[in-house]
Amino acid sequence: MHVYKLTGVQYACICVSVSVSLGMAAHARVAVVAALALLARIAATDTTGPCSLYNSSDNVIHELTDAEYYAMPKLFDLDDYESCLSRREVYCMGSFELSAPPDNQLFQVMTGWSNKWVDNYNHTLLHRGVCVSQRCPHLANKHNAHLDTWFESCVNESTTWDYNITAQLYHLDYCQRGPPREAPLSANQRAFAAVFSAVLAIAAISTTLDLTLTDHTKKDYGWALSWSVRRSWRDLIAPIPSSSSADLRCFNGLRVFCMMSILLEHVAWLSIQTYTSNTRYLEQSRSSPDTLLMTNGTLVVQNFFVMSSFLLAQKLLRQREKVSMVKTFFSTMINRIVRISPSYFLVMWFVTTWWERLGVGPLWATSVVGEAEVCRRKFWTHVLYVNNVVHPEDKCMIQTWYLAADMQLYIAGLLLTLLLRGRRIATLLLAALFLIFTAMNFAMSFTWRLVPNFVLHRPEAIRSGYAGENAFDMIYQSPVGNAPAVLAGLLLAHLHYQLRDSGVRITEYKLFRWISILSAPAALWWAAVEPLLAGGDARGAQANALAAYERPVFLLFVVLALLGAINGVKSPWRSWLSHLGGILPRLSFGALLLHLPLYKIFLATRTAPIQFDRWSTPFEWFGISVVSYIAAIPLALLVELPAQTLYKELTTRRREEHDPTREKLDRNDM
Ligand SMILES: *[C@@H]1O[C@H](CO)[C@@H](O)[C@H](O)[C@H]1NC(C)=O
Ligand SMILES: *[C@@H]1O[C@H](CO)[C@@H](O)[C@H](O)[C@H]1NC(C)=O
Ligand SMILES: *[C@@H]1O[C@H](CO)[C@@H](O)[C@H](O)[C@H]1NC(C)=O
Repeated sequence: MHVYKLTGVQYACICVSVSVSLGMAAHARVAVVAALALLARIAATDTTGPCSLYNSSDNVIHELTDAEYYAMPKLFDLDDYESCLSRREVYCMGSFELSAPPDNQLFQVMTGWSNKWVDNYNHTLLHRGVCVSQRCPHLANKHNAHLDTWFESCVNESTTWDYNITAQLYHLDYCQRGPPREAPLSANQRAFAAVFSAVLAIAAISTTLDLTLTDHTKKDYGWALSWSVRRSWRDLIAPIPSSSSADLRCFNGLRVFCMMSILLEHVAWLSIQTYTSNTRYLEQSRSSPDTLLMTNGTLVVQNFFVMSSFLLAQKLLRQREKVSMVKTFFSTMINRIVRISPSYFLVMWFVTTWWERLGVGPLWATSVVGEAEVCRRKFWTHVLYVNNVVHPEDKCMIQTWYLAADMQLYIAGLLLTLLLRGRRIATLLLAALFLIFTAMNFAMSFTWRLVPNFVLHRPEAIRSGYAGENAFDMIYQSPVGNAPAVLAGLLLAHLHYQLRDSGVRITEYKLFRWISILSAPAALWWAAVEPLLAGGDARGAQANALAAYERPVFLLFVVLALLGAINGVKSPWRSWLSHLGGILPRLSFGALLLHLPLYKIFLATRTAPIQFDRWSTPFEWFGISVVSYIAAIPLALLVELPAQTLYKELTTRRREEHDPTREKLDRNDM
């Protein structure tokens, strides 16, 4: 646990850098005071030695030798699925709760090790896929009628025999005799296939028309050419328009960079969710800096909120003509819905229909079919963009919490910007709201004793889909938890234009330039080191506080970095981000939708527990990135871009008569 040891000097560094960056935000004095008081308290109480994120009063074992570790029963085990079922044997999968008399030493070790719950799996739970009829034929007569009790006795017998520990089935995934039967196509699946074929047919017709019609005819039948693949391809590879009032080229690269970080995090996340063979390695690497950074890589989702709300505010603030508020509100919202919904709903529909037919394997039923069922149940919440607040405990396409939270906050941000437009007090008010929402997060965090991001993403919580973990529903995916990010984006835009309008050339200040340049690495640095500030008890006050302020601090770094970058402060990361990507920024949305179902197909068709480590990660990360971005191309060409083009064609026609100053559909704000 040496990594959690922080010296006074390190604390001092954290204090100084946090306060410097906070000090630069004009209206953040309250936050500075609060953060400094908090850090001072941490520094005063916790400099005495190794502290760990567990309550020390429990029986907690912090170190085990390899020999002691491997004396414990294996957490995950899978018998050969195919050979079992092809011989018409019985295959069962499920999880077991272990128990033993108090004098059982091995069991004491297992509980002690599990009590280090921030890093370790719960070793008193075993997960098994067993060819029951082959392993325990002698129990067949007793249990033939009830496959689940047969399964239970079989595993219980082996743990009793090997370890003198009894096992009780607490969750049965399935029991199955013989190979799975191919289910007939459901009406829903047929409908999806029909629509999918129709889209292909329309694309073929539209493309043919585009290739054969004369330019003159095309002008009148623009809508008929919406689905032309050639036209969509041109849209896809067209250079992303730049803006004269702010240099936003780095946004494109930032989008790709953030998406790649999310892919990396999800590779690790899904690998932990499935059956893994090297649990020892995973537990040991939990506290190493690279794992801390990777686990906290989810903080970069905040960047998407910042960019999306920045672009929203920018568009509204630059609007010259006075279009009525109501009209602007509806046209902006419809633009956004048209941009996101077609591909989103189509992928959701695919997930609820054909996804589960694409593979087999021992893990398929739980991880793919199980999720598809949740998705069928929750489909309507996704359509209404409320899946993060309605039945938040049921997880379907977990990454889509972002789309829901973003839509909700987009509405709020849009209203707020429209109301504040042109008022001098706007910036001040947004800064105040940023602090108010941060304070609300503090209040929620202390009321429900919420854990910070790193503790939230612990192995056992990931496996259970964050069951009973309030931090996921209340902060991680909730609108309130993400409101500071949206406010930060709005604030950035207002600050930027206010400075421009008042003629302040902020980039002329050397101090600001340096702070801005260093803020980008500082944001990453913060993601990697902030778990160290959680203090000794993962549910204690320091951890609760961290859960509330880890995102706002990250956001302050991001805002400072971006404020410089869009005003032309040159830095290596800015030029790197400005040139990163090509067409990738436009495909990031598709990749966000597709990477989880695709990677799950890969994982759920494994027939043995996977090995997941530092050597496999780069390969799987690269693989899933390439596959997701490539899969995003047809999605963009056949659904996303044509739908936007069609909408543009239809509305331009009507509006040309009334309102020639139509704004362009912004497809780059995700
Ligand atoms: C491990 O699982 C058992 C059985 O569900 C539970 O009683 C125990 O509290 C868990 N241990 C930890 C540290 O969460
Ligand atoms: C198993 O546990 C029981 C009860 O604690 C004990 O009596 C017995 O000797 C143990 N058996 C072995 C093989 O350790
Ligand atoms: C497990 O096996 C032990 C020893 O044979 C037995 O006493 C116990 O009742 C069994 N437990 C279950 C849940 O089958």
